[in-house]
Amino acid sequence: MQPEVVHPAEGKPMNFTQIYFGGDYNPEQWPEEVWAEDARLMQQAGVNLVSLGIFAWARIEPRPGAFDFAWLDRLMDLLHAHGVAVNLATPTAAPPAWMVRLHPEMLPVTADGVTLWHGSRRHYCPHNPDYRRYARRVAAALAERYKSHPALAMWHVDNEYGCHVGECFCPRSTAAFRDWLRARYATLAGLNAAWGTAFWSQTYTDWEEIEPPRAAPAQKNPAQQLDWARFTSDSWLACFQEQRDVLKAAAPGVPVTTNFMSFHRPIDYFEFARHEDVVSIDSYPDTSDPGWAAVSAMTFDLIRSLRQGEPWILMEQAASQVNWRQRNAVKKPGVMRLGSLQAVARGANGILFFQWRQSRAGAEKFHSAMLPHAGTESRTWSEVQALGRELPRLNALLRGRAEAQVAILMDWNNWWALELDSKPSNDLKLLPGLRAWHRALYRRNIPVDFAHPESDLSRYRLVIAPHLYLVSDAAAANLSAWVERGGVLLMDYFSGIVDPNEQIRPGSYPAPFRGLLGLEIEEFVPYSPEGRNSVLTADGRRFETRFWADVIHLRGAEALARFEQDYFAGSAAVTRNAYSRGSAYYLGAELEPAGLEWLLERVLGEAEVQPVLAGLPEGVEAQRRADSQREWLFLLNHNAFPVRVRLPAGGRDLLGGQAVGGEIELPAAGAAVIETVIDRSRP
Ligand code: GLA
Repeated sequence: MQPEVVHPAEGKPMNFTQIYFGGDYNPEQWPEEVWAEDARLMQQAGVNLVSLGIFAWARIEPRPGAFDFAWLDRLMDLLHAHGVAVNLATPTAAPPAWMVRLHPEMLPVTADGVTLWHGSRRHYCPHNPDYRRYARRVAAALAERYKSHPALAMWHVDNEYGCHVGECFCPRSTAAFRDWLRARYATLAGLNAAWGTAFWSQTYTDWEEIEPPRAAPAQKNPAQQLDWARFTSDSWLACFQEQRDVLKAAAPGVPVTTNFMSFHRPIDYFEFARHEDVVSIDSYPDTSDPGWAAVSAMTFDLIRSLRQGEPWILMEQAASQVNWRQRNAVKKPGVMRLGSLQAVARGANGILFFQWRQSRAGAEKFHSAMLPHAGTESRTWSEVQALGRELPRLNALLRGRAEAQVAILMDWNNWWALELDSKPSNDLKLLPGLRAWHRALYRRNIPVDFAHPESDLSRYRLVIAPHLYLVSDAAAANLSAWVERGGVLLMDYFSGIVDPNEQIRPGSYPAPFRGLLGLEIEEFVPYSPEGRNSVLTADGRRFETRFWADVIHLRGAEALARFEQDYFAGSAAVTRNAYSRGSAYYLGAELEPAGLEWLLERVLGEAEVQPVLAGLPEGVEAQRRADSQREWLFLLNHNAFPVRVRLPAGGRDLLGGQAVGGEIELPAAGAAVIETVIDRSRP
């Protein structure tokens, strides 16, 4: 039996006809004389899509209900005349000052009761009915005005939901939380049981007694906090959905998106993505970190996974530096191009920037842009122009998908629960674990998806489950069934501990996976920052461990490595359990990187997973996109020196425009996209 996909996407995937290239365009910051130059330079740079009006609410609706579209009409026409399509934004991430004055209770309030005022952006409570009414109204006015404009290509709703203000604790939010809880539990008895309120006399006898998890004297109820996180995530989605519905009612065929923010804790992106027509993401790796490309690869692998591999859009990246780090590194020559091609390699059909023209005023005036303060006589402009000329060469691969045989499990519910306080170690966070596995696979050029634990895993040979602390019955059954059918599972410590109410699953740890893993865990042993242990593997390797150790009793699994120190010396640290047609590995320690490599080598071998290309020089990234007829091998040289790469087959380098044989030389920071026709006669 195939498990059901729990996150089926709504609607049809967006139909791309070209690779989009452009950025956020904020013309309201400039006198009108500049617009003509903008349009001319956009054309020169090959820009074919801009996200327009994202923060222009005060200009679009200068007084309540009085819309000024004349300037936007002129811009839409101007852009269209220059071949630039518009991703028209609803400006609802920056409510105007008049609205705040009329409805000061729309301002968000922190857990400590502090109000966040006007004077920046995203200063709204997602539950405020006045704000929501105004947001629907401006979206409807824009939709009505521009639904048939030939420049309109898609809608961009709001901007980075949950950014800056992830949650709001005002009285409206409190009332909305109570409504959400009533809908979830129906009865107070149900809520009291789910929240375990017998503990510390927290029992509720009236819905009005329930509050958000505000600042409190000591640890807060974990189930209350978890439901608060779910409620908050649902609230941002509701804000999006009602605008989407307004836009769809006016222009049913125009795709709707909102820009996501990498691994962003306040919102369950798996759930959210289902309600968009195409997913898009903003990515700002710190390129002063030599490992930046692994960071952005992880972001891109997440966004591709949210709608099961459909093409997506890189909605924002920096042409060079950002303004919001302590020190804002430039993107050195070639780096912006490499990062852009990396996104296409991992499934993007659009490469856009924040922003088109660098601001002269405001908080982001030192943030780079496609057109910098230095103007067209600049390195950044040259690199932007060159990329704009180059991307159309890749239009052939719009329907090509980047597929993976390995998945790392990711569930926002687990993320929220794992990082609540009062754990054996409060230093255990989800992302470092995800990153460690992803990075190890990235370095081997093995494509990876992120998969929800309840989703259909049948396309994967290897599934890695880092710290899957909270697990539903459906997810546990899904994983066991997938291993039964022959999958290779690698689970690591602190998995299978609580149910979706954040309550310990009965029986010894890890209750839902004991049979699958063939072991029981008696206790968790977190270490101080200086604490160390080591493991000796059955094949004679020794690796240091730190941070965490599980005291494991084998119940059928074999030990692949055993601890060498502490009172549980000699007990298993790494195990393998043959389970029906598959096998389940378990790692009960924090292994040093060389140890992770040793373990990966073994599981990849058993799962028969191959890299995109074997034998690549260090620092060369390889990814593949393919449709039914052709495949495209992306080679990105992240080194500051040239490398030679041996190719499995000759083809045509779409970037260089020439045929390549059995070998190709990539210059420093160079790239190639080699197109080959798939030989269907091969098995
Ligand atoms: C985010 C926002 C943009 C801009 C950039 C700056 O991605 O969506 O409006 O502020 O950050 O890096």
